[in-house]
Amino acid sequence: MHSVIFDNDIGIDDAMALLLLHYAESVELLAITTRFGNASITDTTCNALIMKDLFGIEAPVFQGAAASIGKRLGEGFPIHVHGENGLGDIDLPAPQSKVEALPAAEALVEVTKEHDGEAIVIAVGGLTNIAQALDLDSNFAGRVKRLIIMGGAFGYNRHSGNVSPVAEANIASDPQAADIVFRSGMTIAIVGLDVTHEIIMDRPYMQSLRECAGEAGKFIASSHQYYLDFHHSLSGRFECPLHDSAAIAYLLAPDLFTTINQPVRAVTEGIAMGQTIHGDDLREYVSSAWDDVTESTICIGVDGPAVLELCRNILSKAAKIRD
Ligand code: BDR
Ligand code: CA
Repeated sequence: MHSVIFDNDIGIDDAMALLLLHYAESVELLAITTRFGNASITDTTCNALIMKDLFGIEAPVFQGAAASIGKRLGEGFPIHVHGENGLGDIDLPAPQSKVEALPAAEALVEVTKEHDGEAIVIAVGGLTNIAQALDLDSNFAGRVKRLIIMGGAFGYNRHSGNVSPVAEANIASDPQAADIVFRSGMTIAIVGLDVTHEIIMDRPYMQSLRECAGEAGKFIASSHQYYLDFHHSLSGRFECPLHDSAAIAYLLAPDLFTTINQPVRAVTEGIAMGQTIHGDDLREYVSSAWDDVTESTICIGVDGPAVLELCRNILSKAAKIRD
C-alpha cells in the first residue's frame, strides 16, 4: 500500500490525478495540500473541496501557498489553459466540505511525523509548500519516503519548456523553491515534460473514459474539453499531454518508465529562469553547482499507450465496483 500526500494546484489535469489516487486500490490518500498555480489559492482549495464532495474523498484538505517564495516567471493565472475556475469552466456546486485550519506546509510536517518514513509526497504544482515544510522542520526531508514531482523538462525526446523555450510551468512558478527541494537530499523522482508529452490523450480516449469510467470519467471528459480546445489552438489537433496523472502512473507502475539518476538544479534567474538542468558525471566541469547535490531519478522515456491503459483501467474498475 502506498501512503500518499497529494500536493497540487487543481487544475484540470490535477483533478484527474486526484481521481486516480482516490480509486487506485494500492493507494491510501493521507492528505491533500493545495497551492496557487493553475488558479488562485482560493480557487484551487475550493476545487479540492468540491472533488471531495463529488467523489467521497475522505482525505483532509489543507490550504497552502498563495504566492511563490522567490521570483516567478510570468504573473496571474493560466485562464487560457485551465479556465476561470481552474476546472475548464464546467458548472461546479459550492463546496460543502471544509478546509482544515492547519496551513499546508505545517500539515506536511505533521502528517509525515505520523507516518515517519512511510509517506510518499506527490507534488504536481510548484514546489512552494514542500520548500516551506523543509524550512519549518530540518527532519522533514528524511521522513518523506519519496517525493514524486510532475515538473521540469530536460530536452529528452525533443521536449523542452512549455512556458519558455526551456522552462516547465510548475518549476517556473517558483524556481527558488524547486532548487531548494532539489538540493534538500530528499529521495526524488521527476516526471517532466520529457515523458508527459509522450503520453497523449485524444478525443476517442476521452470518449472512452466518459463511457466506461462512470461519474469520474464524465467529470474528466467534461473538464478536459477546455484543455483539448487550448491544445487544439496550439497544434491544430484535439490532443493533450497527460501531465499530473503521469506522476501517479510512475508511482503505480515505474517499470513503464525509463530513468536516469543525476543531480538536478533549477535556474532561478535570467532568461533561463525555471529551467531544470541535470549534472553529467561523464565530464569534469569547471562549475561546482551540481557537486554535493543528491541524485534525483529523472524519467526520460515512457510507454505512453500502457500508461493510458493503466489510467483507464483504474477509473473503469472503480466505476464497475460502485455501480
Ligand atoms: C503542469 O502545469 C500545470 O498547468 C499542470 O497542472 C501541470 O502540473 C504542466 O506543465
Ligand atoms: Ca498541476
